Amino acid sequence: MKDVLNIIGTRYSCRKYTDVPVTQEQIDALVKAALYAPTAFDAQPFKLLVVTNKELIKQLNDEAMVIIEATNKPYYEKIMERGGQPYYNANAMFIILKEDGNPQAAGGLDDINTGIMAQTIALAAYGLDLGSVIAQSVGIPFGGDAGADLKAKVNWPEGYSYGVGVLVGNPDMTKEPHELSFDKVIYTK
Ligand SMILES: Cc1cc2nc3c(=O)[nH]c(=O)nc-3n(C[C@H](O)[C@H](O)[C@H](O)COP(=O)(O)O)c2cc1C
Repeated sequence: MKDVLNIIGTRYSCRKYTDVPVTQEQIDALVKAALYAPTAFDAQPFKLLVVTNKELIKQLNDEAMVIIEATNKPYYEKIMERGGQPYYNANAMFIILKEDGNPQAAGGLDDINTGIMAQTIALAAYGLDLGSVIAQSVGIPFGGDAGADLKAKVNWPEGYSYGVGVLVGNPDMTKEPHELSFDKVIYTK
């Protein structure tokens, strides 16, 4: 067990996972952590899709790669540098959706909600000695030609739009935390 400041200060985006599955107990703990995340006015205008079917994650990964190659060459090159797998062989995928037309969408609060939930999952995963990466790219395959079919496969409900994703697995890498930009902090005392 790590204390919270230690978890925050040592978490990193994990981009390489082993084949060891995330256990159901770990998934349950991450789901519970996600549901503890605050939302503005406690409105909870989200759905949380949890995908642990490795074959399906691989299918989503491959579809994302096809779309990225066709639409975003610099990003494609970046992924190739990182091993050619946009979802890094992760064993679990959390897809955070926003309820369409919810009153919070106008002020962007629903995006903030999903971001907070993503980081909550990421920190909880790290606390459980799992790796994770918050990944906007999780949404990519659902916007392509196979999008409707893939949405059906992950049980994406009507009336919800993509917010952000989190990939989770047992880490097969380690990384130092990113540089801290203290120069961006403005104190008023
Ligand atoms: C909103 C958001 C979207 C991100 N999307 C991706 C992504 O699609 N793929 C990826 O590999 N990393 C993604 N990241 C991870 C960032 O690249 C990473 O957090 C950043 O480089 C800092 O590194 P660190 O998390 O290891 O400190 C995303 C992070 C955030 C906060």
